[in-house]
Amino acid sequence: MLILGIETSCDETAAAVVENGKKILSNVVASQVNLHRKYWGIVPEIASRKHLELIVPIIKESLGEAQMKLKDLDAVAATYGPGLLGSLLVGLTAAKGLAYALELPFIGINHLEAHFYANFLSYPEIIPPLVGLIISGGHTELIYLSKEREYEILGTTRDDAVGEAFDKVARILDIGYPGGPEIEKVAKKGNPQSIDLPLTHFKNNSLDFSFSGIKTAVLYYVKDLERKKAPVSTADIAASFQLKIAQMLSKNLFKAAWQKKVKQIILGGGVSANLFLRSFLEKEKPGQMEIFFPPLELCTDNAAMVAACAYAKVKQGKSSPLSLDAQPNLGF
Ligand code: KG4
Ligand code: ZN
Repeated sequence: MLILGIETSCDETAAAVVENGKKILSNVVASQVNLHRKYWGIVPEIASRKHLELIVPIIKESLGEAQMKLKDLDAVAATYGPGLLGSLLVGLTAAKGLAYALELPFIGINHLEAHFYANFLSYPEIIPPLVGLIISGGHTELIYLSKEREYEILGTTRDDAVGEAFDKVARILDIGYPGGPEIEKVAKKGNPQSIDLPLTHFKNNSLDFSFSGIKTAVLYYVKDLERKKAPVSTADIAASFQLKIAQMLSKNLFKAAWQKKVKQIILGGGVSANLFLRSFLEKEKPGQMEIFFPPLELCTDNAAMVAACAYAKVKQGKSSPLSLDAQPNLGF
């Protein structure tokens, strides 16, 4: 079964053709990051206009790379939430239009669920029950998957998402946007033990997260140094921040896995591309647990994960009505 997946929830215009939810025949991603860089964040109006310009060429490119024609497709899928309304509408409308014209099933996809499918797409040995953690620019979701497509939220952020904290700290340090990859790069030259930043955990066994405290601590630390006209070691701050983030994520993640008695853990979302975090979690994990990270190109937003998730829904006999609307605040 050949599924065309489309993803436009944020600032990537992406289309992919995936066979039977496993084999990626094409995976085209056009990032708008250069357009948004000077604003230190995504400007929704610019994002939706760019999606509109790119959506048809990107779909054509994904079909061309897969050496497929529209008539070869069996279904069309697109992300319908969560994300930016104007951005979501572009990919969703394109997918619904194609499905209608080609008389194919249309499948609306939850972007958060799709991030998990970056793992299922890559590693056939992953079998629920398991614990998953999505860490991206907009979300921090700790989830229990009892069986395929059955999700229970165990913990979430009470303020900023992890990726958002990376982006904001990179802005404080003036090292560029998006902040995650910049912090990772700069941190390589720093000492992660050099600055004592706060770790936030909640009482009463809560598995929730909070990242605004550490961001504010970095802000005050830098301001204080500037006031004293002391040198600011960007590398030390980046490394210390990255270590504390890894510790906060690791604590709740392994606690959840232990509470749910699972043997497998999966990660997803842009922040799971962070190699320091990956090796930290590998080192911290209890011996009998397996931890999976998507290949780097499938951590950040892409449409292959959308098509793979759509295949799982089709297998369960599910499709979506063409009246399905974009849902910017869609949860799990
Ligand atoms: O999943 P994603 O592409 O988009 C959303 O759904 O939000 O995630 C983007 C986020 C950004 O905040 C970016 O700074 C972060 O992922 N990110 C990273 C890394 N690469 C991307 N954070 C830490 N380390 C990285 N290597
Ligand atoms: Zn995402």
